[in-house]
Amino acid sequence: MALNFLGFYSLYKYMSSNFIPHCSTLFTKMASSYSFMAFVSCYILILLLLLGNTSAHNLKTNYYSSSCPNVFQVIKPVVKSAIFGEKRLGASLLRLFFHDCFVNGCDASVLLDDTANFKGEKTAGPNNNSIRGFSVIDKIKLHVEKACPGVVSCADILAIAARDSVVILGGPNWEVKLGRRDSRTASFSKANTNLPSPASNLSGLISDFSSQGLSFKDMVALSGGHTIGKARCISFRGHIYNDKNINSNFAKERQAKCPKQVGSGDFNLAPLDLQTPNLFDNKYYKNLINHKGLLHSDQVLFNNGPADSLVKTYASSTTTFFSHFVTAMIKMGDIKPLTGSKGEIRKNCRKII
Ligand code: HEM
Ligand SMILES: *[C@@H]1O[C@H](CO)[C@@H](O)[C@H](O)[C@H]1NC(C)=O
Ligand SMILES: *[C@@H]1O[C@H](CO)[C@@H](O)[C@H](O)[C@H]1NC(C)=O
Repeated sequence: MALNFLGFYSLYKYMSSNFIPHCSTLFTKMASSYSFMAFVSCYILILLLLLGNTSAHNLKTNYYSSSCPNVFQVIKPVVKSAIFGEKRLGASLLRLFFHDCFVNGCDASVLLDDTANFKGEKTAGPNNNSIRGFSVIDKIKLHVEKACPGVVSCADILAIAARDSVVILGGPNWEVKLGRRDSRTASFSKANTNLPSPASNLSGLISDFSSQGLSFKDMVALSGGHTIGKARCISFRGHIYNDKNINSNFAKERQAKCPKQVGSGDFNLAPLDLQTPNLFDNKYYKNLINHKGLLHSDQVLFNNGPADSLVKTYASSTTTFFSHFVTAMIKMGDIKPLTGSKGEIRKNCRKII
């Protein structure tokens, strides 16, 4: 059991202030009215808490309040000017954070460049010729290093840039938990296995997200990230030619710029949300109800299956979608961060120190 020290310490404090007294009270009364079983189950409860606390870490929204109080004011204008220059970059930054968190946790592993003796995640199947926004991250890091040298991690920059992008494109705001450190490793193989495929069915998506500790509801809400950005023909060809659960006019429209022949027009782009590709809204779910989801993995969420009702809820209430999306983004940001003395604070997000 890889319990970290802080996890142990906070648990110890918690136990001594709350549980131990109860258990000892029980102990003293054991001989009289309380049963031995009650005493035992009290400690079993503590043991369960201990086991459930293995992912304990202490990300905090005010992590940089004294070490880099201006971090948000430094990052946001850089994200804003990038999105002003190219709207799609907001989508690209949101996706970078997702692709980071699903591979060994939110540790900026996705940002590491390949070198002669280091293979990173950038050329793994789901990432190769697809993930983008690295120069925006470089620019942010440059500004942040000027303001607070050696303090703010690239992993936290990804989390803040993803949130800022969502806000700038009209989505919900939330306080980002911080204190992640940067990895000294990356995993090409986990980038290939952990990231969900656009050809995935609903059970595949459920299992990919549950492996990360994310619920069915988190999965459906986070898929709403596809309310912005674009996909390549290679990612949706199967859906527009082979699937039945698709509006036929929509399929024809998409086929016009995505030839059936594999290898032909593979990199041609189409918006994930045909209505408002640069606005973070709930149109993605309305499209699904109209059978106009771009990816196979989008449309499986509305296919006479268990996700239909959530899709309908989000399609009819922006407020509910935003609130579930925020909850799920915070949960995703909590996936296995490096804290304490683990990892490092990179100087350049592309390189291990
Ligand atoms: C549910 C499982 C998911 C699958 C199967 C999936 C798959 C994909 C694929 C295939 C693309 C297009 C890539 C390309 O063709 O270059 C894409 C784009 C995108 N994804 Fe997802 N994704 C999923 C979940 C998410 C989540 C959880 C988020 C964030 C909350 C997200 C955010 C995005 C964004 C914003 C884009 C557009 C990026 C751009 O335009 O640069 N996706 N996704
Ligand atoms: C990534 O894409 C490039 C360019 O299309 C290709 O040459 C390369 O083989 C791909 N890398 C991997 C690991 O598939
Ligand atoms: C979903 O996909 C997986 C892997 O591709 C496959 O093994 C499984 O049978 C599929 N499940 C359903 C319900 O179609």
